[in-house]
Amino acid sequence: MKFGVLCVSDRCSAGICEDQSGKAILDLIAPLADASVYRLVPDDRAAIETALCDLADVEHADVILTTGGTGFAPRDVTPEATLAVIDRAAPGIAEAVRLKSLAITPNAMLSRAVSGIRGKTLIINLPGSPKAVRESLAVVLPVLPHAVETLAGNTQNCGGNYGK
Ligand code: MTE
Repeated sequence: MKFGVLCVSDRCSAGICEDQSGKAILDLIAPLADASVYRLVPDDRAAIETALCDLADVEHADVILTTGGTGFAPRDVTPEATLAVIDRAAPGIAEAVRLKSLAITPNAMLSRAVSGIRGKTLIINLPGSPKAVRESLAVVLPVLPHAVETLAGNTQNCGGNYGK
């Protein structure tokens, strides 16, 4: 599986702080990742959209995991950028992450994260802290192999008799 990891942060882009969340993602996906491509952009909608399109269309990532910019701060626009580039919504992933995360912290409801599909690439927004990344990926990682398999058109393991 090929991953794109996109850190969205004004402060990290400016070199004011280090991207701990992107590092946490790269560590956690290592067992699943044949390859991974990392990008860092500021909280700028055009920059986020360009990076997402590049990771999907040029790098052909199977899965793009973004971190940051999902909250209520004025410059938090990662969900809007994601919605602008996806062809199909996949809301269950973001819903599941919020549901499970709410059992850990009520602040989970402050994430506006979305998930969806561009071509054959699944894009999933994660919140910006390393803690939130770890908690969110615990929910998401187990379904990724099947998600990528079905995106590629292989529905043999779905359990139903559709798509045959
Ligand atoms: N989700 C989990 N699992 N754990 C967390 O600690 N923090 C929340 C939320 N989601 C959190 C979480 C907080 S405090 C915020 S403000 C939102 O994610 C948005 O974070 P972001 O703006 O860094 O993307």
